Amino acid sequence: MNETLLVTGGAGFIGSNFVHYWLRNHPDDAVVVLDALTYAGNRDNLKDLENNPHFHFVEGDICDRALVDGLLEKYNINIIAHFAAESHVDRSILAPDSFIKTNVMGTFTLLEAFRNYYPQLDGNGRFLHVSTDEVYGTLDANDSAFQETTPYAPNSPYSASKAGSDHLVRAYYYTYELPTLITNCSNNYGPYHYPEKLIPLICINILLGKSLPVYGDGQNVRDWLYVLDHCRALDTVIQKGKPGETYNIGGNNEVKNIELVRMLCQLMDELAPGLPVSPAQELITFVKDRPGHDRRYAIDASKIRTELGWEPSVTIEQGLRQTVQWYLDNRHWWEPLLSQDYQAYYQQMYHSHSSQL
Ligand code: NAD
Ligand code: TYD
Repeated sequence: MNETLLVTGGAGFIGSNFVHYWLRNHPDDAVVVLDALTYAGNRDNLKDLENNPHFHFVEGDICDRALVDGLLEKYNINIIAHFAAESHVDRSILAPDSFIKTNVMGTFTLLEAFRNYYPQLDGNGRFLHVSTDEVYGTLDANDSAFQETTPYAPNSPYSASKAGSDHLVRAYYYTYELPTLITNCSNNYGPYHYPEKLIPLICINILLGKSLPVYGDGQNVRDWLYVLDHCRALDTVIQKGKPGETYNIGGNNEVKNIELVRMLCQLMDELAPGLPVSPAQELITFVKDRPGHDRRYAIDASKIRTELGWEPSVTIEQGLRQTVQWYLDNRHWWEPLLSQDYQAYYQQMYHSHSSQL
């Protein structure tokens, strides 16, 4: 049977990769994107789909209940894939309001709309909530990796707002028997990643000859997953996941920030001869730490591997090489994003981090 998906946040980084992935792998399905086009949303991410009759784009806010109700009815949606969020930890520290509004109230609005609409679907519906490993808080070096049963302990306004939304999604399964699914994934990287996040920021700053800000001592550890592996995992959860369940998704790639930045410098030295500053490592600058900076994230993805048969296919070396090459080949994509607004954010953000350790 053909499916019709409502993809919220489909003009963002992971959402746009997911829309491309879905229409490549399920060409007979239809995808409706609902996206407010905040600073992080970009219609260019979906430009090549504009003439695809299976693709529809709607600009709007997930907090707009009447709009969401209308879209579910108009397009006969049976799967909601919910990506829309404010997603950047540093921005959540500077200004948390929009995180509570979109991540908590927006998710609540979608759940209420789905609760009202679901009886029409004769049991053939799914609500996938795309969340983060950051809800579990931080690990010490020797702690075992996050499991689905790890207690929530969010430390930033971003992760607290995602935790709140996860709890609502869970409650709608238990209280209203809605077929909800939650995924908690580690840090993604790949094409269409907005310049404020670590990997694109480092790539772009190297190309511009700007300093590479590493927070604190650079020993914080993140688990990195190539974005298309995440999309495959979400497809697997939509098809085979058990309603009411949570699935952790990770790349088995724990890397210290400073090592990651050095890997990116080496790749840039190799793939982009004639850099403004070479070797690129000379640009590395340790700056004041992020407040509440989680020390380590690590994901135990054995549940999705053993129960649903998913595992990552791209190693960090392969994925970083492809990603660096993508940023080299797609200057026309990222250059316009370094707008006045972005520069103002960058100034505000990195001015507060600028005292050297
Ligand atoms: P992103 O910031 O790149 O994109 C978010 C998208 O949501 C943008 O297109 C934006 O315009 C849209 N949006 C924001 N507020 C909205 C609103 N009120 N109504 C409609 N649209 C709105 O984020 P991303 O990195 O693609 O993350 C997508 C999801 O995946 C988020 O829920 C995030 O918490 C989760 N996640 C991200 C990562 C990661 O490493 N990036 C890892 C795990 C989970
Ligand atoms: P980020 O991409 O913001 O993801 P998250 O905070 O959600 O994990 O940052 C990844 C790591 O890189 C995190 O430990 C913070 C660090 N970082 C820097 O050291 N410098 C930077 O300029 C940025 C944006 C992040």
